[in-house]
Amino acid sequence: MGEDNMDYYRELFDLIEKQHEWRSKCINMIASENITSPAVRYAIVSDFGHRYAEGLLGGRDNGLQLFNRFYQGTRFFDRVEALTMKLAEDLFCAEHANVVPTSGTIANLAVYNALSENGDGISGLSVQAGGHISHTHISCAGVVGLRDISYAFDKDEMNIDVDESKKILLKEKPKIIMLGASLFLFPHPVGEMREIADEIDASLIYDGAHVLGLIAGKKFQEPLKEGADAITGSTHKSLPGPQGGIILCNKNIAHRIDNSAFPGLMSNHHLHHVAGLLVALAEMQEFGQEYAKQITKNAKTLAQSMYESGFNVLCEHKGFTQSHQVVVDVSSIGKGNEIANNCEESNIIINKNLLPGDSLKDTDNPSGIRLGVQELTHLGMKESEMKAVSGFFKRVAIDKENPKKVREDVSEFMKDYNKVHYCFESKLPV
Ligand SMILES: Cc1ncc(COP(=O)(O)O)c(C=O)c1O
Repeated sequence: MGEDNMDYYRELFDLIEKQHEWRSKCINMIASENITSPAVRYAIVSDFGHRYAEGLLGGRDNGLQLFNRFYQGTRFFDRVEALTMKLAEDLFCAEHANVVPTSGTIANLAVYNALSENGDGISGLSVQAGGHISHTHISCAGVVGLRDISYAFDKDEMNIDVDESKKILLKEKPKIIMLGASLFLFPHPVGEMREIADEIDASLIYDGAHVLGLIAGKKFQEPLKEGADAITGSTHKSLPGPQGGIILCNKNIAHRIDNSAFPGLMSNHHLHHVAGLLVALAEMQEFGQEYAKQITKNAKTLAQSMYESGFNVLCEHKGFTQSHQVVVDVSSIGKGNEIANNCEESNIIINKNLLPGDSLKDTDNPSGIRLGVQELTHLGMKESEMKAVSGFFKRVAIDKENPKKVREDVSEFMKDYNKVHYCFESKLPV
């Protein structure tokens, strides 16, 4: 390695060290992130990360029988993937799981590719109302040529307005009806949308990217039981697995979904992440209910405490939230950009967020901030810590205290929260 190349190498390892040092002193409340347990991390750096397993696991009549790989060398991984699928099916009460997608967006694309055709409609929430771009033509719905149809949204309820949306859907007749969102406080009306889907012969898909950990912990809602044909999702938000995607679906569409994922969209999938997912699912099976219950308690406590400190927290009349998220309108105290930047200066990592009523033009400086408590909960925080976190927000955003002073106190506070909870005890070297 030449001197210059060694410089890149040194700089990278220096940056990794700085990242770890800085982030261990930060309160992270990005609602789409989480940290993984030591055992998940061990699986991710295992030899599976060097290997290929092209082909699908098939013929699982006895639960774990394996066929259809194109390369040799997969004997142990085949068992890993079969176990991961089985555990996912058990945990989400699904007839079939596909763990091939490498992200939530790819999981959505696989479903669209399987169940719709170029020119069909897809309905979902607009981005301003909390929908994800992958439900629209600007992302993967556009890749397969789908046409966007937005639901009517009830801002007070922070939910889909079913009656008004029904009129739109009966007229536009989308082939894919998407539920789920990125700004997601309350369960979506799966049962009512099932009835509409049946009337217009559409597939009903629930994007659980944000709330899979809550669903696994028997909180929030049970989309498949309530009538969805499939759940898609990321495996790394409230579900604390490695970054990846998953599809859980009914048997009648399993074959189409599998073929869409492979060979449709993926050649090789990420075997190490499947192994990590197996650990995360086993940990959810063991500790998920306790974890999900604490997440929802923490979110409500944070929201109540911030509300009492003078923040305009959305949906006070509905108990603020039933998910891992808390949404705050900061338009009167500096708007999303300023608040998110000042929080970062204070070692509190959050994101600015469009709120219903904002225009897409406000994307760079929207009215809201979105806070997720799933990672703090995973680090063992409970209600009293949420009140402390609320106090930090007040100092930064309402009292406008110097962020440097708050940063010192946040760093001190975080010293007690560097260990993952709700996971198997592990002496693994990570
Ligand atoms: C509702 C929703 N669906 C899908 C995704 C995409 O997931 P990924 O980032 O894993 O592609 C996100 C990302 O945040 C999301 O919020």
